[in-house]
Amino acid sequence: MLRITSLLFGACLAAPAGSAWAEKLPASQRVQDGEAIYRFACARCHDHGEGGAPVIGDTQSWQPRSSLWEAVLLEHADEGYLAMPASGGDSRLTDYDVEVAAEYILSVTFPERIAD
Ligand code: HEC
Repeated sequence: MLRITSLLFGACLAAPAGSAWAEKLPASQRVQDGEAIYRFACARCHDHGEGGAPVIGDTQSWQPRSSLWEAVLLEHADEGYLAMPASGGDSRLTDYDVEVAAEYILSVTFPERIAD
């Protein structure tokens, strides 16, 4: 939450990035961060399918997406994919931010597929 707050005030450029750091955080922290980042950077498209974005919680709009699933989807979230802008179009987001936000979308959509 602290990090989100600083992000909102535009002061998080020095946030510790990288997945090694991210992996040390407990799952509950990732979910909490993921939801906050999602609301902040992804919801405007993924809540209602803006521009063809797959809608969070709508299994059918996510089902046809990569069968390789998580790794590919996370990479697409990070680097962009067709109409999906890299990092949701916000270059201030770290890899960790994008990763937990994508995990959040997937865990809401497919609660049974993401174990944590
Ligand atoms: C400006 C609108 C917009 C924002 C903001 C946005 N997305 Fe997307 N996203 C899209 C669209 C459109 C697609 C569908 C791309 C396509 O298939 O053409 C998409 C697709 C995706 C996919 C699936 C990629 C695939 O391989 O099928 C993931 C994962 C994703 N977004 C994650 C995120 C995350 C995480 C965020 C926030 C950090 C985010 N998006 C913010 C528009 C957006």
